[in-house]
Amino acid sequence: MKGIVLAGGSGTRMHPITRAVSKQLLPVYDKPMIYYPLSTLMLAGLRDILIITTPQDKDQFVRLLGDGAQFGINLSYAAQPEPNGLATAFLIGAEHIGADTAALVLGDNIFYGHGLGARLSAAAQLTSGALLFGYRVRDPHRYGIAELGADGALLAIEEKPSQPKSNLAITGLYFYDHDVVEIARSLTPSARGELEITDLNNVYVRRGAARLEDLGRGTAWLDTGTEDSLLAASQFVQVLEQRQGVQIACLEEVALVSGFIDAAQAYRLGEAQGNSNYGAHVMAVAQAYRAGG
Ligand code: G1P
Repeated sequence: MKGIVLAGGSGTRMHPITRAVSKQLLPVYDKPMIYYPLSTLMLAGLRDILIITTPQDKDQFVRLLGDGAQFGINLSYAAQPEPNGLATAFLIGAEHIGADTAALVLGDNIFYGHGLGARLSAAAQLTSGALLFGYRVRDPHRYGIAELGADGALLAIEEKPSQPKSNLAITGLYFYDHDVVEIARSLTPSARGELEITDLNNVYVRRGAARLEDLGRGTAWLDTGTEDSLLAASQFVQVLEQRQGVQIACLEEVALVSGFIDAAQAYRLGEAQGNSNYGAHVMAVAQAYRAGG
């Protein structure tokens, strides 16, 4: 399965913060936002990942993450010239996906929770249909929202409904079979002129090929699309990291525990940023890993 992180968009909802800097490069507490969705795909076991950015922001992402070899993964980059919809990720990423299946994560979505890694690696085994993840929210009009039948079956998804039929939001993490490219090609722009991910998902729903898994309340799903949600996400990460001495979305650590790199390489990566708490954490984890065998 191939991965895509969609980190485009003009971030107009956060101007002036995002006038000169890509939203997905803003800090969520102690690391750039894109670390979180990228770690989600790495936890799913994906090692071939395309990062889609605006043309003007691409160089900065490359400066931050390079070709991924340091993490034992393969990162490539593509530009989305216009913010014309999330589903265009599969047109831009068609070549990257090739004959494979694909996972898409939105560059401003943060997933955190116990057992999430196992759940994600299971999702990456998908061979047919679509697998979506739902999350109960208080403000359903802001998201793609599931309409569920009496038996809990997924009947349809509505994008930002004014009269939501449930409070189960479709999160920005999607797993698809290879049909996704062809379905994306068949879409027409919505009233707001975008190729909507919700339209794409509804094709799978109508085919009876979409599965929706509720992430449940034991998992945190945070989006960072407004100044308030960005600050809340930073505070969430700060509280957990300071309380437990862990690092959320530490790419070097994820690469190490996933077996993508060895402890010596993780240590080198930590040492290169040893002046920061983040770097010190990477060195400590690498040392403990080596000691523990
Ligand atoms: C997008 C999708 C929406 C989804 C949300 C998750 O909305 O269109 O269906 O629920 O991401 O973050 P956006 O936040 O881009 O408006």
